[in-house]
Amino acid sequence: MANQSRLRALLWWRRWAKKDWAIAAVGFTLTLFALSLISISWRDDDFKITHPVDLTSASDFVDLTLLRNANHRGALCLDGSVPGYHFQKGFGSGAHNWLLHIEGGGWCNTIASCSLRKNTPLGSSKYMERQVRFSGILSRDSSENPDFFNWNKVKIRYCDGASLAGRPESELKNGDKLFFRGQIIWESLMDELLSIGMSKAKQALLSGCSAGGLATLIHCDDFRKLLPKNATVKCLADAGFFLDEIDVFGNHTMRSFYHDVVLLQGVAKSLPKDCVAGMEPSECLFPQQLIKNIRTPVFLVNPAYDFWQIQHVLVPNALDPHGYWRSCRLNIHNCNPSQIKIVQGFRDSLLRALSEFQKNKMGGIFINSCFIHCQTWMAETWHSPNSPRINNKTIAESVGDWYFDRKVVKQIDCPYPCNPTCVHMDFT
Ligand SMILES: *[C@@H]1O[C@H](CO)[C@@H](O)[C@H](O)[C@H]1NC(C)=O
Ligand SMILES: *[C@@H]1O[C@H](CO)[C@@H](O)[C@H](O)[C@H]1NC(C)=O
Ligand SMILES: *[C@@H]1O[C@H](CO)[C@@H](O)[C@H](O)[C@H]1NC(C)=O
Repeated sequence: MANQSRLRALLWWRRWAKKDWAIAAVGFTLTLFALSLISISWRDDDFKITHPVDLTSASDFVDLTLLRNANHRGALCLDGSVPGYHFQKGFGSGAHNWLLHIEGGGWCNTIASCSLRKNTPLGSSKYMERQVRFSGILSRDSSENPDFFNWNKVKIRYCDGASLAGRPESELKNGDKLFFRGQIIWESLMDELLSIGMSKAKQALLSGCSAGGLATLIHCDDFRKLLPKNATVKCLADAGFFLDEIDVFGNHTMRSFYHDVVLLQGVAKSLPKDCVAGMEPSECLFPQQLIKNIRTPVFLVNPAYDFWQIQHVLVPNALDPHGYWRSCRLNIHNCNPSQIKIVQGFRDSLLRALSEFQKNKMGGIFINSCFIHCQTWMAETWHSPNSPRINNKTIAESVGDWYFDRKVVKQIDCPYPCNPTCVHMDFT
């Protein structure tokens, strides 16, 4: 029974992943990640994920709101359009609590890749869906989202291509009319949310997935400072712990990619000063550096076998012309013993990068051994009878235990393939 509905969820994923129109409908488009990271064909890397839509449950769609003061402030998406967010009002005991979730969607590192992106929902509100479904951590159903269901909830749309951290000073060099305003979008958006009630927040959680998880880490302490001193404020990064690791060919693919993003969009000014003073700004964009400087309590949810990282940090497609890694990159069950060894090494690197953070008393961790990416925004992985667990706790229960100080949460799963509760993605 349990396996059946798991299978159904996965089938949904796969069926949707195959639809071409998904490119317009997806909350984040992995194809764009791939496209922006290295110039590989996006047909080839046809990885798109969308919410597994459950047609039987009452729909929970929330309208897009365009930022009111955007033009005046110069807070603009890559193409110069007005950024947006989706807001659902809190109720009952959650009326004064705020949960923000920043959408993911990779980054653009060149004029060419940003120019492509500006014609998609990740670079322009012209293409954003007018409604999105709130599920997982954004759900208002208490059985799907036991601790946060009645909070004010905001899904922040991502349209700047640099984790809400770009600066207009760096626009001069682009003749193609691209706007690098991530930091200004963040600031204007915060002002707007404060004005509609967030300034009276009693409890707040800033969260985000993937590039939005990275944005969460970048802005976590800023967020804390904006809210009342007596409010409880914490941050949750989902699949945002990108590793500063060499790929299987020994190249610093990810580091040089971040280097280009930082340079193109002027991100250095949005990074911790202490870090930038001591090393290359692009290294300071990696979470293992960012978390050293964050004073606000942080929770990290990350799969140990994050498929995006395996496909782009560890084994970038362009570096595998003979397809030795092809089937392993698409489905972890297809990896041969020597590939598994390398993938386990990647997990070891993640745990090493987290070793300091594990001692952080205010911090929380949930590192499960699944081949997946973001897990907080879907009921199937956040909190359901069949969702991934460690020590019999779902991600939602673990995050709740940490947020409300019910328990210390440092959940680190045993290595693959030990956990039968995992949802593993299959791109074959
Ligand atoms: C914080 O202080 C303000 C003003 O004193 C008060 O109105 C508010 O209820 C307090 N919030 C919490 C969470 O205690
Ligand atoms: C990767 O490293 C090799 C040398 O080890 C080099 O020849 C190659 O150009 C590098 N590839 C990329 C994409 O940087
Ligand atoms: C796991 O937790 C569920 C409730 O979430 C409980 O019903 C079940 O008995 C637990 N299983 C074990 C093995 O502890």
